[in-house]
Amino acid sequence: MDKSLNELREKLEQSKLGGGEKRIEAQHNKGKLTARERVELLMDKGSFQEIGALVTHRCKDFGMEDQRVLGDGVITGYGTIDGRLVYIFSQDFTVFGGSLSETHAEKICKIMDLAIKNGAPVIGLNDSGGARIQEGVNSLGGYADIFYRNTLASGVIPQISAIMGPCAGGAVYSPAITDFTVMVEETSYMFVTGPNVVKTVTNETVSSEELGGASTHAKKSGVTHITAANDLDCILKLKKLLSYIPQNCEDTVPDEPYELGIETRESLRDIVPENSNQPYDMREVIHGIMDDDSFFEIHEQYADNIIVGFARLAGKSVGIVANQPYSLAGVLDVDASKKGARFVRFCDCFNIPLLVLVDVPGFLPGTDQEWNGIITNGAKLLYAFSEATVPRITLITRKAYGGAYDVMNSKHIGADLNYAWPMAEIAVMGAKGASEIIFKKEIAQSDDPQAKLQEKEKHYADTFANPYRAAARGFIDEVIDPAVTRSKLIAGFNSNANKVVSLPRKKHGNIPL
Ligand code: HXC
Repeated sequence: MDKSLNELREKLEQSKLGGGEKRIEAQHNKGKLTARERVELLMDKGSFQEIGALVTHRCKDFGMEDQRVLGDGVITGYGTIDGRLVYIFSQDFTVFGGSLSETHAEKICKIMDLAIKNGAPVIGLNDSGGARIQEGVNSLGGYADIFYRNTLASGVIPQISAIMGPCAGGAVYSPAITDFTVMVEETSYMFVTGPNVVKTVTNETVSSEELGGASTHAKKSGVTHITAANDLDCILKLKKLLSYIPQNCEDTVPDEPYELGIETRESLRDIVPENSNQPYDMREVIHGIMDDDSFFEIHEQYADNIIVGFARLAGKSVGIVANQPYSLAGVLDVDASKKGARFVRFCDCFNIPLLVLVDVPGFLPGTDQEWNGIITNGAKLLYAFSEATVPRITLITRKAYGGAYDVMNSKHIGADLNYAWPMAEIAVMGAKGASEIIFKKEIAQSDDPQAKLQEKEKHYADTFANPYRAAARGFIDEVIDPAVTRSKLIAGFNSNANKVVSLPRKKHGNIPL
């Protein structure tokens, strides 16, 4: 027995060493943790159960039969994070650069299958040189097996990808299908083709960091939702993100303990400026309404004219979509529409109620926007809200103009409760633009066109620049004192907690992708 046990211990020790001390040191020297250190930090202490520690590759080409490493470059298994079951894979760069062989892919697929069957999230820690070059098409097939499972799991269990090293070529498409991607600054990058291929094909000179680093994907492409300063920060952010989301599509998020107290927040009265053209920070409204320090922003650096993220209201997880008057006056454009739509669909998949804060002057005009498809992209947000069956509450803090009024979770597209603050302006467009169109002749024929325009503008503003027309029609359920917003929303979400809505029977809808 002792002999057998020793053999087992030896093998497990060997497996734990991955590519060996030297490569572990090289990994540390790059400022990166090892695959195993990352898993240990992420999971509750002592909870991680490894599966497949003794797996080896089957490749015999290019002298590979003499180079077998137990575990084959990926640590897979399950454990708990804050007491909740999670499946995980963590690629080990010290073993063939974390490259994906047929067996490496099989290990990942195995835990994805278990996660789907058991209704628990999958977290992938990516740190890989891509397809194992020695294995050719076997490796490509392995990737496709993962992509297929990513797609089947989409909307069933949350899938989160952390990019903690290289992620290149077709490998990027697994994180791209998952719900959230977190990238570590300076040590991670993602691209379909690297700087050398770019130079050959387009003659552009670009570094890996510039082409596909964390900051590029956070600001320019929107491929990453969250960035982290280093591996530890990344792990803390993964844990935080998980705390707002349920285990699967049939589950709800555990509430944090909260006892109702005085929920009036008078400071909310002072955020929106008197002058309706003056910007303000919608984050102040979010912080004012939601539980203290509970807001966790997603896609913070991308399309900052819209804010999306999770927060808690009286201990319950809520998804927030909010126009941001501080950036482009909160206008909806192509990127903001895509960002908002993707977030709304995530929340709807996973039963997270939506709070929508509206201060929007409309859609952004211009050739750039039209030629880049503001029509199709704006429709994504409209479609996402219309289709969402989770509890949905809207608060108009100031402007709700034009088509953007409809799109931003209006009553007409299925919102459950619609509130407005008294300074809200719900109209087809701003008073000046409207007057210039409908009183064009009268203004032109006037002795003093400027004065006439101002008179008409005032008349239009007096008529429409308020929430009362919409309230009179029932499009707004209540016009509320900002100070009572929090209590109204707590009551509103509680009253919709058992909401049941059935959509027409269909295979699936056809969102304008
Ligand atoms: C096999 C690989 C490998 C790979 C790295 N290694 N990538 N082995 N297949 N794809 C090995 C190296 O030989 C080396 O082994 C060890 O991993 C560390 O690699 P280094 O190059 O020393 O590390 P570094 O300088 O940090 O560079 C990392 C790297 C580079 C930028 C990732 O290794 C690289 O460019 N690798 C190839 C990337 C690539 O072209 N992959 C295929 C992409 S196409 P030793 O023994 O020396 O330590 C693809 C298609 C997917 O992935 C399609 C899906 C549909």
